[in-house]
Amino acid sequence: MPVLGIETSCDETGLALVHEGRVVAERLATQADLHSVFGGVVPEIASREHLRIIDPLFRTLLTDAGLAPADISGVAVARGPGLLGSLLVGLAFAKGLVLATGRPLVGINHLHAHLLAAGLHSRIAFPALGLLVSGGHTHLYRMVSPTQFELLGRTLDDAAGEAFDKAAKLCNLPYPGGRHVEELSRDATPIPGLFPRPYLDNDNLDFSFSGLKTAFALYIERHPHLRLPRLGTDGAASVPAPLRAEIGAVLASLSESIAETLRVKTERALDRFPEARCMVVAGGVAANALLRRTMAGMAARRGIGLLVPPPALCTDNATMIAYAGELLLREGLRHDLTLDAVPRGQAIPEDYLPPPCVRAASRQPGDAG
Ligand code: KG4
Ligand code: ZN
Repeated sequence: MPVLGIETSCDETGLALVHEGRVVAERLATQADLHSVFGGVVPEIASREHLRIIDPLFRTLLTDAGLAPADISGVAVARGPGLLGSLLVGLAFAKGLVLATGRPLVGINHLHAHLLAAGLHSRIAFPALGLLVSGGHTHLYRMVSPTQFELLGRTLDDAAGEAFDKAAKLCNLPYPGGRHVEELSRDATPIPGLFPRPYLDNDNLDFSFSGLKTAFALYIERHPHLRLPRLGTDGAASVPAPLRAEIGAVLASLSESIAETLRVKTERALDRFPEARCMVVAGGVAANALLRRTMAGMAARRGIGLLVPPPALCTDNATMIAYAGELLLREGLRHDLTLDAVPRGQAIPEDYLPPPCVRAASRQPGDAG
């Protein structure tokens, strides 16, 4: 019987069923168009939209799979980090299902799930080095096992995805901008030395992308014609060819700076973690073709295996939550109905319930229940 995964941490409502590492059914409802006009996600609109869509989406998912709620073996829900109101919608839905079906519940760290998703296509050999690059996070992890992650480095300010999104906004591209930056720069050649590779001149594994954002903003200030008119429905194709070539080269330079910065710090992490048996790169920014090529080149040169989920599994989805849930439930890890959401910026506690044998043994004579 499959595990249900629920993802509502930001502006995608995702539901998926995974059984023994295989996707049984999946549904994703994106709110990108709703938020695009505001240039970023509006938290109250996001939670409301999750609430509106989650129940019909669940019914459609079950119809796709030809299953009933009782056919679900467990419920895995993204508990953070994310927007609090959005997470709470997923959590409340998960708890309702758990109450109705009596199935086990497990809360999932959304960031770990991004990386574990690589295991849906090829087996992750642990210990592994994990680079998680998303809209809110740029984390390097020592992945000891599917359930044990140690943070090696993180961004001190903007995440890699934020650097893409903010640069895109400066050029009037729709939110989230990463994929538009990629579309416009796909066939372009970067201009050598145009942008810095930020925060490399140090000895640590942390990142800082805010200086790159400033460099990009200053460039656009000096070249205001790169603030594009609103894109037509045909996206990058609506930009006149000469302007497209010019902005393409500028955006390719930005993308190269980001990809190279990520590569240098990831190589530094590999130097310090020689036991790593493979390397995983995941999160929305890992959908970027230039980053994928850069990391593949580095991995081949160093002779280490590289796992990157397919692009649709890099951006937010519920399949990764269901899969991580299946791994955790198999290890006996679960939560009860007191499971809480954890907003962005707060550490996710390891507050799993003790395994049943420990629970039984720790009961004192005369304990009720
Ligand atoms: O993992 P994700 O879907 O959501 C978060 O957990 O944040 O990542 C979203 C981020 C956004 O910043 C988006 O612009 C970026 O991933 N992104 C990309 C691409 N596709 C999505 N960045 C660069 N190139 C892409 N093709
Ligand atoms: Zn994400």
